[in-house]
Amino acid sequence: MKIDILTLFPAMFAGPFEESIISRARQRGLLDIKLWNIRDYALDKHQQVDDYPYGGGAGMVMKADVLCRAINAVRCPGAHLVYLSPQGSRLVQSTVVRLAEKSHLILLCGHYEGIDERVMNEVDEELSIGDYVLSGGELAAMVVVDAVTRLIPGVLGDETSAQEESFAEGLLEYPHYTRPKTFQGREVPEVLLSGHHENIRRWRKKLSLERTLVKRPDLLLGRHFDQEERQMLEEILFEGENQVK
Ligand code: ADE
Repeated sequence: MKIDILTLFPAMFAGPFEESIISRARQRGLLDIKLWNIRDYALDKHQQVDDYPYGGGAGMVMKADVLCRAINAVRCPGAHLVYLSPQGSRLVQSTVVRLAEKSHLILLCGHYEGIDERVMNEVDEELSIGDYVLSGGELAAMVVVDAVTRLIPGVLGDETSAQEESFAEGLLEYPHYTRPKTFQGREVPEVLLSGHHENIRRWRKKLSLERTLVKRPDLLLGRHFDQEERQMLEEILFEGENQVK
């Protein structure tokens, strides 16, 4: 996958892109990230990238001509241009899955009060990483790159790990344990030591359901529960009732 990032602050990306999974994916040629400094596309003497808003008001607006020159420098047919902004639709895992299927993403990071509205003609999708205002789109772009990279085939060592984790099936993940078997007097659940794969699968599924119900019940709204899940939910609710009494 190719990702071009248009930003006024390319140096911000150095740390996150040079560590861990993203760095490994780049080294292995699975991910080709290029950072482009928007300021390089400002042609005037002072390389001005922003200007006062028409109609007055606080803040500066990123200039349409500069942004469009930057976009045209990286855009190829088939590229998908994402503008990171607090006004975008909220990034969720299904969006990440869809973006991971693209061969070329362009991530446009805004700053100041935003971009000249006429640049929106060039944008395929506007995304927000949450309902809060960041000082620019850079941190949001890093979040997108991280979440997408993990889904590129071959990036994660164990191909099943992206499949099984939180949100992949619309549920939170089950609890994990590693050695030692006893820690501060607390034991690892017996079933995980049993070697009985079907019991372990069922235990994990049930704990995923229970955790989602307790921590993020909103994720279950509109979900189609299969027969096994319905049975497990009944057990969870029954056990819950008995605990209260
Ligand atoms: N730019 C500023 N705030 C943002 C947010 N919440 N998501 C994406 N881009 C942003």
